[in-house]
Amino acid sequence: MPLPPPTGPLLWSPRMGVGNARLDDDHKLLIELLNQLSQPIPEAEAPLLVQSILNALVDYASFHFAREEAALAAVDYPYLAAHKAAHRLVAEQAQAHLATFQADPDSLSLDQLAAFVRGWLVEHIQGEDRAFSAYLSGHPEADAAIDAVPLLGGLGPEDDDPLDDPLEKVASG
Ligand SMILES: [Fe+2]
Ligand SMILES: [Fe+2]
Repeated sequence: MPLPPPTGPLLWSPRMGVGNARLDDDHKLLIELLNQLSQPIPEAEAPLLVQSILNALVDYASFHFAREEAALAAVDYPYLAAHKAAHRLVAEQAQAHLATFQADPDSLSLDQLAAFVRGWLVEHIQGEDRAFSAYLSGHPEADAAIDAVPLLGGLGPEDDDPLDDPLEKVASG
């Protein structure tokens, strides 16, 4: 089934499933936030509204990445290091877009922003995330690891390098 056109809402479908209901719910929420960027926004409200949606996206993506990495660590996913690196890259790109938009809301069109977020969401979920679904499905121990990740402002249990953690980056601004 082809992807919907870039301007329409993106819909989560079972073919995006990654073998864990909590992580699927995270992806649905991120897609929901993306779709808010794609809705018509009155021009007067655009800067503030877009800013808050972007903030929510960056914050929730960081939280989600920490949850996903905790789940993958719990099942000894062999490609965890590469997956973490992919998350870092996306987080840095998203932070850069956010900073650009904060400095000058006119520098990026809403379409450009939505296309970027849609691109990384779709590519990451359907590519790199789908790749671990076989390692997570049927492994309930991953749920406990996911639930142990604090919402924001804290680090996951026994995290390797706090300075490398996207949660820390968001918390420190
Ligand atoms: Fe994910
Ligand atoms: Fe991921």
